[in-house]
Amino acid sequence: MAELGNDIHRAAALLRTGELVAIPTETVYGLAANALDEDAVVGIFRVKNRPRFDPLIVHVAEAEAFSRYADDIPAAALALAEQVCPGPVTFLFPKKSLIPDLVTSGHPTVGLRIPDHAMTLALLQALDFPLAAPSANPFGFVSPTRAEDVDEQLGTAIPYILDGGPCRIGLESTIIDFSTPQPEILRLGGLSLEFIEACLGQSLSVRTGSSNPRAPGMLSSHYNPGKPVRVGNIRQLAAALSDRQLGVLAFREPVPGIEPDHQRVLSPGGDLQEAARNFFGMLRAFNHLPVDLVIAEWLPEAGLGRAVNDRLRRAAAGPWNSAGSG
Ligand code: TXA
Ligand code: MG
Repeated sequence: MAELGNDIHRAAALLRTGELVAIPTETVYGLAANALDEDAVVGIFRVKNRPRFDPLIVHVAEAEAFSRYADDIPAAALALAEQVCPGPVTFLFPKKSLIPDLVTSGHPTVGLRIPDHAMTLALLQALDFPLAAPSANPFGFVSPTRAEDVDEQLGTAIPYILDGGPCRIGLESTIIDFSTPQPEILRLGGLSLEFIEACLGQSLSVRTGSSNPRAPGMLSSHYNPGKPVRVGNIRQLAAALSDRQLGVLAFREPVPGIEPDHQRVLSPGGDLQEAARNFFGMLRAFNHLPVDLVIAEWLPEAGLGRAVNDRLRRAAAGPWNSAGSG
């Protein structure tokens, strides 16, 4: 298992020698390496078993650093950054050649993000290079929202996990492509579409389909929780699947007649931010329960509910669900 701790100097020293370190952010934990060192970045793809076509997000400490790694940064993007950074947003801009092609999977754009976590900001400030960091889970699995989640899945492959406590937002960053004439959302995430549109003063198109060549990582099946998942009306599903050992992921209320220990409620008060914060951890919990199928319900299609529904859709679309039909 990896060492867990809060020693920023130790994390920085490891990163300077090309090692990988897991880092906390407000969204999910990341698996970090020196973004300017190709050999270190290769390690990220190896440890995650991540295909090389899936580009990495580059983390920096402040918006002034954007122009070191990217060109043609529109004024609207800087104005948005001023309002929401540090925060759960990733900006895509045309990349400078300083960023290795490996990091962007050969794409002409680079994703830049300023994470809102004091420990990781201090770490970035201590380093003279930015950090490439995808979510710290094996490729295709649920993202980690606690240091222990990282340890469980990647602990044997990395030396150190910077433990910054549970993630405050719990969903990955919203990705906005600013390399196109009109900005476009490529991934729904921790900052709501409505909020971003209000900041920018314009409505945005959302292109999160897996056919979108600019976000190859947004595969239609992703977020494998380790158990098959069905999404719909949980009471109807529970009645129709009464011969199965069901786990229930409910929004506000559990389903009567099903073992309470096998149910998780995202937010009894119906708060979408609380639901988002709980989502990955609760989904992950079914792995340790004697259930063979997880039934879940859609959240309201607004605010962070949209981003949770996106993850649910991809979790339910995976090949791991073939055993879950019926
Ligand atoms: O909140 C987050 O964004 C977390 C934390 C650790 O910062 N990171 C994260 O990384 O979710 P990851 O690798 O799990 O997802 C990154 C996704 C890629 O799968 C891809 O869809 C998109 O970001 N992406 C990154 N760079 C891109 C680029 N240059 N062009 C298109 N899509 C890009
Ligand atoms: Mg990921």
